[in-house]
Amino acid sequence: MEFRRAFYPRIMLKLAKRLALVALLIAGAGTAASPVRILIAYHSQTGNTAKLAAAVREGAASVAGVEVLLRSVDEAGTEDIVKSDGILLGTPVHWGNLSAESKRFLDRIGEVLGKTSKMLGEGRTAGVFCTAGSISNGQEMARLAAIAAFLDMRFIVIGGVNDEGFGSLGPQAVTGGSPPGVNDRDRAEARRFGERFARLTWQFRAGAKP
Ligand SMILES: Cc1cc2nc3c(=O)[nH]c(=O)nc-3n(C[C@H](O)[C@H](O)[C@H](O)COP(=O)(O)O)c2cc1C
Repeated sequence: MEFRRAFYPRIMLKLAKRLALVALLIAGAGTAASPVRILIAYHSQTGNTAKLAAAVREGAASVAGVEVLLRSVDEAGTEDIVKSDGILLGTPVHWGNLSAESKRFLDRIGEVLGKTSKMLGEGRTAGVFCTAGSISNGQEMARLAAIAAFLDMRFIVIGGVNDEGFGSLGPQAVTGGSPPGVNDRDRAEARRFGERFARLTWQFRAGAKP
């Protein structure tokens, strides 16, 4: 009986401490539950890359806890870049490579993050997609050039799903065929890529230390 009387308050104190810890953890989880932000920026002169970007957005937006911002490279502002947890760049192939406008956007990412963070894209994800007029006429070069820039800036690059559309480096569409433009298969692959990118970015952020 004596033993119980001495021991009981100590157990209660321990229990109270544990409950307080659990409450703190739950409160912390609440903070971590702020949405993961993905910026999809694209350049498009004749609308094809914009269509692929819209499909990527659909896939990304299907992931719970993810907020997706779809912007042309000209519309994407400094704040959009700074606040993003992941950045996706869509480009048309221009002369076997990414377009000058897309390249300028990559340079702007470096400039913006260079000013706001010591380690540029460290802790953020990145991915690419493109459209081109003909088969095997620069799609790999365009995507690899953008991927190289993202890697240089310390982003973690997430590749594509390659259903049937040659999208291991990120989705692509050949738009000069018959009929021309972005077809349903291209869009389906882009949606799957968007979903994968958003899901993996969410998982990465959830596991990341603040
Ligand atoms: C200046 C210029 C250069 C191009 N160079 C290529 C090229 O090297 N390879 C290719 O397959 N298509 C090339 N194209 C075709 C575009 O990549 C294709 O039409 C693309 O889908 C356009 O995307 P957009 O509608 O988003 O502008 C070029 C188009 C332009 C305007």
